[in-house]
This record gives sequence, structure tokens and C-alpha cells, in this order.
Amino acid sequence: MRVFPRSLFGRIVLILAGGFLTVQLITTAIAISDRNALVFRSGATQAATRIGDVVRTMTAASPAERTRIMHAVSNDTLKVTYGKPAGSDAASGEDSELMNAARDALALALQPGIGFKVIDARPVYLNADSWYAREFGERPGVRMFSTVLLNDGVWITVDSIEPARATHWVTRMFRNLAIVDGVMVILCFFAVRLVTRPLSLLASAAEDLGRNIDRPPLPEHGANELVRASRALNVMQDRLKRYVDTRVKVLAAMSHDLKTPITRMRLRAEMLDDAHIKAKFVKDLDELQQMVGSTLDYMRGLAEGGEAMQPIDVSALISSLKEDAEEAGHTVTLSGDARTPVMGRAQALKRCLQNLIDNALAYGRRADITLRDEGGALNIAITDDGPGIPEADIERVFEPFYRVEGSRNRNTGGSGLGLSIARNIAQSHGGSVRLRNLARGGLEATLRIPRAAA
Ligand SMILES: Nc1ncnc2c1ncn2[C@@H]1O[C@H](COP(=O)(O)OP(=O)(O)OP(=O)(O)O)[C@@H](O)[C@H]1O
Ligand SMILES: [Mg+2]
Repeated sequence: MRVFPRSLFGRIVLILAGGFLTVQLITTAIAISDRNALVFRSGATQAATRIGDVVRTMTAASPAERTRIMHAVSNDTLKVTYGKPAGSDAASGEDSELMNAARDALALALQPGIGFKVIDARPVYLNADSWYAREFGERPGVRMFSTVLLNDGVWITVDSIEPARATHWVTRMFRNLAIVDGVMVILCFFAVRLVTRPLSLLASAAEDLGRNIDRPPLPEHGANELVRASRALNVMQDRLKRYVDTRVKVLAAMSHDLKTPITRMRLRAEMLDDAHIKAKFVKDLDELQQMVGSTLDYMRGLAEGGEAMQPIDVSALISSLKEDAEEAGHTVTLSGDARTPVMGRAQALKRCLQNLIDNALAYGRRADITLRDEGGALNIAITDDGPGIPEADIERVFEPFYRVEGSRNRNTGGSGLGLSIARNIAQSHGGSVRLRNLARGGLEATLRIPRAAA
């Protein structure tokens, strides 16, 4: 399975959403590691505040009242006793973060000048054995054990416990993160689609242009960049169209106008006395005329983009071509079937197939046609038993007027436009024509017509 998506859409969504999640994980990790420090500091502050309150009340009270107060305030979480615990004068060994926080908090809670010593400060857990429960399942409390010197030289010792509480803060945090991330991913999706959709629209428009130069122009609205790109494509299409149109028209006009002088020359050739020269002359003129004729055909083929696309029964089309060829005394076989009609231009496709069949019959002695319906495309293979085409020429034969050396001498009378026309037609259907020499001799020409062709 590929991890990195192929589409721009997938890639941007992955980078944005992935990046966002990573940043969030890091922030969360930092928040978690800072949390306990915060929890301890606030626990220490609460414990210290209670001690401060006790000390203030005791300071204001007479010695007789003090004992009463001590009893009154003492409970499970607060214990006040007279005197200093033994050994509390020794420097306290542990200098944890919590001890420091406790010292700071108590210094703030007591009036300045009052002597005190934090003997011990430690976290209180509900469930000290489980790391997960300690870190995520509860809010730890703080136990602060300290001794304070009252104004009249009496020491009291206060043991204040800020109890731990169960909490579901992690669950809450993840629920909040899920909501934020969900919103983020949805926004991401729409933002990225906003960017990539026009791109794929442009791509398919450009693709379409290759098949049909007369396609309707792209709408020019939406975001500025999109309008610019669409406009550029439309302008390009327009220029291309004019360029092709002019060339087609010039060539068509030339070929057409050549007909008249050729006819005149043919008449004049009749007046030649030397029969041998006359025959050669007429043969040249025939060739010239044929070239002019097929050039006109070719031009017409280029202009055929105008013919409407319609569903075409290719099997029936080939059967009729087969019959025509058989009537002219040729051998043509047909196998395979097209399951459903393909969309295409009937005249053009017929011309395309005719050219390929003509070649098979002109350079070989038979044409064997195989239809293969692949669902996504229709493949029509035409094989013959001729000499094939030298590998070096197998692409060049598609160039207009290119003929393999020797074809000219053989009396096939072609002008070298057939394959060029066939390929143009195939491409205008989004398809292709390919040639392949067969191992057993002969040539295979394959016309491929995709069904998705517009
Ligand atoms: N089936 C084939 N077997 C061998 N050579 C072929 C075959 N098809 C085409 N060729 C070679 O390719 C050249 C170009 O073919 P193309 O069909 O374009 O022109 P043509 O057949 O010479 O003339 P036309 O315009 O009448 O079709 C041919 O002259 C021939 O040399
Ligand atoms: Mg030909």
C-alpha cells in the first residue's frame, strides 16, 4: 500500500491534517508535563493559606484560647500541635520542586518576619501504585508539614493535607481535541478542494482540447487565478483553432486549385505524338491527381471534427467494410464482438478503418480483423500476411506522404496519407493507432477507441 497519496488533493490534505495533528500532539505533551507542576503549586498554595489562617488566629488569641482553637480547627486534613517535632532543626535533605513551592507559598501566606520551617511537602495520591492513575486519572493533592514560630516565642506544628481528587481531565482533553481536529479536517478538505478542483478542471479541459479543438470555451468565473488560467486556455484554444483553420484552408485551396491545371495538362498530354512519353506523362499526372485527391481527403478529415459524436456499432461498421472488400475479391475475416456501441464520429471512424484495411489488402493478401472489448476501450486489430514495415520506419509511416522505400515502385498507388489520416481520427476520439510487426510475418495495426472519449 502506498503511504503518500498520488493526488495533489490527498497530498495537501495529508500534509495539513498530519502537520496539525503533530503540532497538537506536541502541545498536548508539553501541557501534560507542565500540568503536575501547576497542580502542585496550587495545592501548596492552598495548604499554605490554611496554615496562614491558623497562625493569624492563634497570634491574636490568648494562651488560654489557643488550646481551644487548636482543638476546634483540627480535623482529618489539618492537625495543629504545640512545639516543634524532634529533629526538625536539621537541614531538610530533600529539596524537591514541591518543597520549594511550599516554602514560597508559606512565606507569602504568613506575615513578614514570622519564623517558619517547612519540614516536609509531598504529593498525595488516591492511587499511588498506578502510573496511569497518578498521571491521568486524578488531581494529586499536597501534604505540607511545617512548624511556625508565633509572636511570643511559641512554636506550633501544622500538618495540612490538601486531598487528591479523581478527575477525567484526559478524557475531556481528548474529546475537545477530537472536536477541534474534526472541524479542522473538514475545513482542510474544503479548502484543498477549492484549490485542486479547478486544477483538474483545467487538466481535463486541456486534454479535451487535444481531441476537439472546437470544444466550448471554459467558463471564466471564480477566483482570480482560476479566471486567469481559464482565460489563458481559452485564448490558446482560439489561436490554435485559427492557426489550424488557416493552414487547412490554404492547403485545401491549393490542392483544389491544382485540379484544373492537372486536367489541362492531361488534355495537352493527349496531343503528344510519342506514345511512350505520353504514357509516362499520363502516369505522372495520375499520380499527381491522386495526391491532390487524397490531400483533399486528408484536409476533410482534419475538418471532420465538426461531425457529431454518436453511438456507433463498430461490429456492424466493420461487417459492412468486410462485405465491400469481399465484393472486390479480397479475403477478410472478422472475429470478436463489441459488447456495446462506442461514442464516435461515424464517417471518420469508417475512413480510419477503411485505411487500415486497405493497407492490409494492398501490402498483404488478406485482412484478419479481431475485435477485443476491454470495457474501458475497444481494440480493433487488423493483421495481414504482407512484408511488414522495417522497424526504423514504423513511426515514420504515420507522417503525411511518407512511404516505405519500395512501396512507390510496387503498384499500390498510395500517396502516403492513409495512416496519417487514421491516426488523426483515432486521436480525435482520444484513442490511438499502433503498428507492430508480427513474428510470423505481416503487420498488425491496432485501433484503440476509449469509451470515455468525449
Ligand atoms: N499493412 C502494411 N504492410 C506493409 N507496409 C505497410 C502497411 N501499411 C502501411 N505500410 C507502409 O506504410 C506506408 C504508409 O502507409 P499509408 O497508408 O499512410 O500510405 P499509403 O498506403 O502508401 O497510401 P494511401 O494514402 O493511399 O493510404 C505505406 O506506403 C507502406 O510502405
Ligand atoms: Mg494506405
